[in-house]
Amino acid sequence: MQSSSRPSDRQTAIFVSVAVGIIVAVVTTATFYWVYDLALGQERAAATVVSQAPWSSSDGIKVITSSAPNVPTDGRQPWLGTDAWVQGVQAGQTWVQNNPNPVNVQVLTGMDSAQIWAYMQQYVAGALGVSCQYCHDINNFSLDTYAQKTTARNMMYLATDLNANFILQLPNWRGNYVQCATCHNSKPNNLEGFAPQFVKSVPPIHVTVDPLDSNGEAITDPALKPAAIQGQVKLQDAILYYIYNYQVWKPYDAADPESGRGSLALTYKGGRSQDQVTINQNVMNNNSWSLGVGCNYCHNSRNFTAYETQPANNVTNQLYAYNKLKAQQMLLMTSWIQANWTTYGAIAKPAIPTALEGGASSFSYQQLNGQYYNVPGCYTCHQGYNNADGISVPRAAMNQSSFVDKGDAGQVIFPQALRGGQ
Ligand code: HEC
Ligand code: HEC
Ligand code: HEC
Ligand code: HEC
Repeated sequence: MQSSSRPSDRQTAIFVSVAVGIIVAVVTTATFYWVYDLALGQERAAATVVSQAPWSSSDGIKVITSSAPNVPTDGRQPWLGTDAWVQGVQAGQTWVQNNPNPVNVQVLTGMDSAQIWAYMQQYVAGALGVSCQYCHDINNFSLDTYAQKTTARNMMYLATDLNANFILQLPNWRGNYVQCATCHNSKPNNLEGFAPQFVKSVPPIHVTVDPLDSNGEAITDPALKPAAIQGQVKLQDAILYYIYNYQVWKPYDAADPESGRGSLALTYKGGRSQDQVTINQNVMNNNSWSLGVGCNYCHNSRNFTAYETQPANNVTNQLYAYNKLKAQQMLLMTSWIQANWTTYGAIAKPAIPTALEGGASSFSYQQLNGQYYNVPGCYTCHQGYNNADGISVPRAAMNQSSFVDKGDAGQVIFPQALRGGQ
């Protein structure tokens, strides 16, 4: 005590503790990056090289016509195989002749029956890889007999709301909208929300989650934590907790270098626990695998806290400016999706399907209101896909520049109602 009152010792003590703090922070981040690169970076790079071409509606229609006919047991007509496809489309044509104006549309208002028929083929049936019979009684397209049709209508509201509330609000929006295919990628259900490589990489350990409160203070008292994370939880569940409960406690302000902080901020007020570093690392790995990119797509690897919104300061590529901010918006979007998922009417499952039943990984299912649901994650839309410019826009997003005549199947129709008001 006495000696610490002597200025030189105190200064030394402060100097040493600050230096140790800085070294720990630098070593942690560097190790984190190095381990990531060693463990996942190379496999991820290989995965990027083989990434697919952008989705086209004919891909989805091929899925239908090249499948063997299915045998439904719930009263619906078969929806797979060439015969099912031809019968559905022809029944639609007859319906359009008899009903030039739609009878029972609640979302696609302002379109005539012929436009709806064309949209349904390419961007609804094609998007899900199922023929009309999946949702319709093809003797009368206006009936709402099947739960799948009601769900599809709710999902039209979902696409509209995602575009309005999140996509159109992105800084530096590139003109892409969420449509059915953006999530469905020619599959009706059991969508995979997490890259297979990521799912394999998560170790089966348990961690303590200390979430940040609305001031960015760590909550360590179990009694004050949300019920789901009071005790030790599986690392997998801790990762999901952050992807689906993400908050921003200090919104980004270009004038304030301390801003833009949210639930995943690590380096502030003395740092976070080792478990939090592990959780953060895995959420970041998920960002990378989902988008098929390295850490520096979003970060300046010399300053992980910064938002590289000034292209001139960006060490990697001018095109990448704003990406961390966009990713933050996307984390808010996945959190909003989960919070509102039951109201958008996905069909609940009695249990998590096993892989043999065509299920996705267990990461892709959540228990909500006591039932199991398949919930989207970053990978559902992004699929590890980069376009020709190395930009991670989902392969099946709808770009405003493609709302033009595309020949054979008629116009590319993207209903005004789904565009979120723009
Ligand atoms: C994934 C479910 C789904 C599939 C598959 C689907 N539809 Fe639809 N369809 C809907 C929904 C939902 C509506 C109502 C939209 C609304 O309320 O705005 C609708 C409406 C229609 C309507 C307007 C009916 C009316 O009330 O006037 C026609 C016509 C139609 N679909 C034709 C087709 C054809 C033809 C196919 C196959 C090529 C098809 N649909 C495939 C979900 C589907
Ligand atoms: C944000 C991602 C997302 C968007 C956008 C989206 N869906 Fe979905 N949809 C899902 C997920 C996830 C499920 C749940 C699948 C499951 O339960 O296995 C689902 C379920 C469905 C189902 C029920 C399938 C079943 O048999 O369980 C239908 C039908 C459907 N969507 C149609 C549509 C249509 C039509 C659109 C476009 C208007 C659309 N979806 C847009 C993610 C999305
Ligand atoms: C798709 C964009 C994206 C990718 C790719 C990404 N991150 Fe992040 N990173 C973010 C976002 C968003 C945050 C959240 C900041 C918050 O909540 O305050 C973040 C936060 C961090 C932080 C905490 C910074 C702080 O404020 O304390 C570190 C460290 C970090 N990331 C490291 C990495 C590493 C290492 C990788 C590669 C494995 C990576 N990130 C990949 C978007 C990304
Ligand atoms: C419902 C579909 C959907 C989901 C889920 C989704 N994204 Fe996106 N994302 C998009 C679309 C669409 C765009 C392109 C928007 C545009 O044109 O600017 C995009 C763009 C981005 C970009 C900007 C790319 C660039 O160079 O402009 C980043 C970064 C990103 N997403 C990260 C994420 C992360 C991280 C997650 C998960 C937390 C995620 N996304 C989940 C649809 C989605």
